[in-house]
Amino acid sequence: KHKVIFDTDPGVDDAMALYFALAHPDIDVLGITSIFGNVTVQQATENALYLTRIAGYDIPVAGGALVPLAKAPGTPPGFIHGDDGLGNLPSRSTINAHAESCSAAEYIVNMARQHPGEITLVAVAPLANLGLALKLEPNLPKLLKQVVLMAGTVIEPGNVSPVAEANVWNDPDAADLVFTAGWNLTMVGLDVTHRVVLPSSFFDALANKHNQHLAMTTLRHAVHFYCNFYGAIRPELGHACFGHDVLAFVYLVAPELFQTQEGRIRVAKEGFGNGQTMMDRHGKLFYPQPGWEPEKPVTRACMQVDVEGCINLIETTLGG
Ligand code: BDR
Ligand code: CA
Repeated sequence: KHKVIFDTDPGVDDAMALYFALAHPDIDVLGITSIFGNVTVQQATENALYLTRIAGYDIPVAGGALVPLAKAPGTPPGFIHGDDGLGNLPSRSTINAHAESCSAAEYIVNMARQHPGEITLVAVAPLANLGLALKLEPNLPKLLKQVVLMAGTVIEPGNVSPVAEANVWNDPDAADLVFTAGWNLTMVGLDVTHRVVLPSSFFDALANKHNQHLAMTTLRHAVHFYCNFYGAIRPELGHACFGHDVLAFVYLVAPELFQTQEGRIRVAKEGFGNGQTMMDRHGKLFYPQPGWEPEKPVTRACMQVDVEGCINLIETTLGG
């Protein structure tokens, strides 16, 4: 079983990813760390507690970074995930749960030290918690088994600018630290997440299959809001959305569904290219350049995906 810490800003596709992870027999979610992004960090923590508790899981949640490492904080885009991150739920059941007393970065470091070489970090949000954890424990890359990110893009255009994916754009300084830290690192970016389109009817069917269980009706509500957003900007998709974050977990349990390429990745931190993940796909630059030294660590980037295989796995896992 993969022992996972899930770093997340729930978020509709984050909620999908969380329920996939909780349902999958090969994944053991040890803890969740929250962060700003789709919503404020306070809301992200509340959502992580809410989503786990209504699904019957008593998993620890540690609150993370409020703001990016260096750039000025932005405003969460309420029109994409709702002001509450879950499609503006009309009401919430009462839950009785509290976040851990330590910070997300401390939680990651403590867990990594307690279980050296065993933990997989799946991060699907801006990367400040990982950046702060690296500052607390520079040896973190060696203490973790692997890191899987939903972040960035190599060839596919960006989703917040022509070249930038949202999680990287939200904190380019943290992302560049993460891409150069030297972990066993896989990037699941827009090159593959923009291929996997999930219609809202897919989630209607899941809620029916689970006899309208609160966790699944909550997800259905959130997904409908998300599909309204995508329907407006990408009408050719129909009433559907991208699964983004869930694909990080699909990669974890079924890497054979992806084609990957290794290369050094750096992140642009200013100007028009702000938030761009630039990958040296050839591995040989014509002359030495600062920042692209040959010994810089490489990232495994997902470039192609078996779309049907992914959708089937998401369906059987969430439906099971
Ligand atoms: C990423 O940005 C967030 O809005 C989503 O939750 C996902 O993690 C997609 O670019
Ligand atoms: Ca996310």
